[in-house]
Amino acid sequence: MLGFWCLRCGKEAAGADQYTCPSCSGNLDVVYDHSLIKKKLTRAALAANPDKSIWRYKDILPIARYKGVPIVHIGWTPLYKAQRLGTDLGLKNLFLKDDGRNPSASFKDRAGAVVAAKALELGVKTITGASTGNAASSMACLTAGLGLETIIFLPQKAPVAKVAQLLIFGATVIAVKGSYDEAFDLCLKATEEFGWYNRNTGHNPFTREGKKTVSFEIIEQLGWECPDKVFVPVGDGNILSGVWKGFRDFKALGLIDRLPQLVAVQAEKSDAVKRAFESDGKIRPVSGETIADSISVSLPRDGEAAVQALKESKGFAISVTDEEILAAMRDTARRESVFGEPAGVASIAGLRQAVARKLVKSDEKIVALVTGSGLKDVASALKAVGQPHLIEPEISELKKLVKEHGMGGVP
Ligand SMILES: Cc1ncc(COP(=O)(O)O)c(C=O)c1O
Ligand SMILES: [Zn+2]
Repeated sequence: MLGFWCLRCGKEAAGADQYTCPSCSGNLDVVYDHSLIKKKLTRAALAANPDKSIWRYKDILPIARYKGVPIVHIGWTPLYKAQRLGTDLGLKNLFLKDDGRNPSASFKDRAGAVVAAKALELGVKTITGASTGNAASSMACLTAGLGLETIIFLPQKAPVAKVAQLLIFGATVIAVKGSYDEAFDLCLKATEEFGWYNRNTGHNPFTREGKKTVSFEIIEQLGWECPDKVFVPVGDGNILSGVWKGFRDFKALGLIDRLPQLVAVQAEKSDAVKRAFESDGKIRPVSGETIADSISVSLPRDGEAAVQALKESKGFAISVTDEEILAAMRDTARRESVFGEPAGVASIAGLRQAVARKLVKSDEKIVALVTGSGLKDVASALKAVGQPHLIEPEISELKKLVKEHGMGGVP
């Protein structure tokens, strides 16, 4: 790691403990010496590495001296060829990256893991963070096994499963009577006031570094082929900027020779990144309302980097309605056996729309990230599918029901 560059003003920012740019408060990007890393991180070295987790990419992660990493398994999640969903959509090469399979059941474990390793390296004892739910439950999960204290700020309305995760892993949970954005700002003030180590998305430059590992895995899992398009659910835009960083790192290391187009998928009223990308590039707050709580963001905290990633990758942005998200939850579960939370499958909702608008070609290699497990938000799942049949425990009742619905092939 060479240092930090500001993503907004392009200036170098010295000092490993900094969060944002001292000149303009823009988010920082970690810069590496690719020519040096290239000598170690080769296709042959990766093929010989038995570690099937994000730590197989230690050579291009921002920790100089590892004092420890979370004890649970992070990353190297399955990349499924989505045959049935692909056929429905008229796509021959659709893949789903199921990041609900991480220890706290979301993509955020990639970021939390690198932040936790950094905290151990820095010798800090207390980590704080604001979150719509997943980043926090991840941080709580990963720090539990390391004996670090975690203090979390989250909006009062966060889904109960995420709050339960936080409490069971022993985090101190401060529910804020307000939005995610308000919780975020309060957490920044707490950091200033008490000196805790801050994990906030985008604000801490290492979250993006953890998130980029998904792209490394996609490339390796596709047999060193680069996908044509990657569909990414977007809230703060940090997953998107991380995905882009990962592909760029691998290209800079000479491990791939081209880059994919990125597609940002946002909820209709939580679409600040899309608006900025399609206008003057400036991030302006929106209402943020959506059933997909994890991407319910008024003012995206890594929005500038996300817009930059869309521009550089010659990608595009799509917004989807809550109804389209609920349908995607159903389709992904029923066609591919993958149960994603609303934000987690927003990528699939966006893909369906992109197909309808002829923005993708049938033979393109497409990866859709599924970023969180459906068990995080069962209330939304039930909105997508309704309730079970309810009968008395009598065969006569059952016969009636089976006939009424033509169950199991009964006429
Ligand atoms: C399941 C899930 N999907 C997508 C996102 C969006 O990530 P970002 O806020 O980095 O854009 C989040 C963020 O919390 C998430 O938890
Ligand atoms: Zn700057």
